[in-house]
Amino acid sequence: MRVVEAFRAAYGASPQTVWHAPGRVNLIGEHTDYNDGFVLPFAVPWGVTAALTPRADGVVRLLSLQASGEPVTMATREESAGWTRYVVGVLAMLGDRVAGADIAIDGDVPQGAGLSSSAALEVAVASALNDVHGLGLTPMELALLSQRAENDFVGMPCGIMDQAASALSREGHALFLDCRSLGSRSIPLDLAAHGLSLLIIDTQVHHEHASGEYAKRRAECESAARKLGVPALRDVTDLAGALGLLQGDERKRTEHVVTESHRVEALVGLLRAGAVKEIGALLNASHLSLRNLFEVSSPELDVAVEAAVRGGARGARMTGGGFGGSAIALVPVERLEGVQESVSAAYAERRFRAPRFLPAVPSQGAHRVS
Ligand code: GLA
Repeated sequence: MRVVEAFRAAYGASPQTVWHAPGRVNLIGEHTDYNDGFVLPFAVPWGVTAALTPRADGVVRLLSLQASGEPVTMATREESAGWTRYVVGVLAMLGDRVAGADIAIDGDVPQGAGLSSSAALEVAVASALNDVHGLGLTPMELALLSQRAENDFVGMPCGIMDQAASALSREGHALFLDCRSLGSRSIPLDLAAHGLSLLIIDTQVHHEHASGEYAKRRAECESAARKLGVPALRDVTDLAGALGLLQGDERKRTEHVVTESHRVEALVGLLRAGAVKEIGALLNASHLSLRNLFEVSSPELDVAVEAAVRGGARGARMTGGGFGGSAIALVPVERLEGVQESVSAAYAERRFRAPRFLPAVPSQGAHRVS
């Protein structure tokens, strides 16, 4: 394995453990996780592999096959910068339970596609540390720890979806997660059996203001919940009544979150009934709501969704935080080529950067590789 060879070359010994954690794509349930709602992501076939040996002296040495040069050596947590913060953040959250570590990282999550390469990195390192130190943390505890590293150390106020998907997903299944109770269930997702495929359309565009807008949306949702006197928007039971009490952006955000969380449950119901072909309408409804009410789409995402549906997709939506990244389209296998052509042509016509197409196959969550 490449990462093991790199580890040996840099540190002069074999790693004590090697863990892989995947990125994710979200089938439905967008911007619901930090509102205590439901989500339905699954792990993608790409991820991060971390080879690791603990050190007693508190020093962290870190090398990535995707970054050139010598390993970064950090004597204190404060020295971390850039991508190393995701790793050092996880170590920091484990506090006294760990000291330092020698780490080598290899990753193949398409960058900037919104497929949660950062969650994959956090969960791979957290899982490896849990293993070598015999901490006995559950996959959900590792996900929560990774989320805390991102919230408190990196400074991105994300919800639990990405880390939970990376830690808990099962091959061939989507992860139905209640973001309040943290109870989860794996839902079989055998698209091929229904002649369908889920296509990721990577817009290859990521807008600069994305993280600022994310924090703003989250604050708007929390403010709306306070005005409604509920702990989180998840608790709204009378949507019409709630909307009557709100105005402007907070009103729109609330309508999205409440309906989106119910769309997750509806979609899970269809999957359980074996009505996979019927989920397309919910994907389309989710996209319109994200575009018009939550206002996190982008011209590239809208064009991808419209052109995919025009080209024969049964439904399509933006996925992830928004403002670029990827869309997903549910496509009958015989229409795969037509859908790609339709999207590519629409992009060329608008002089957008050419999109990239990737097959979304529900894959295994974090696991030990050696
Ligand atoms: C990002 C965050 C997640 C979630 C999505 C939107 O991916 O990291 O926690 O909020 O956006 O659904």
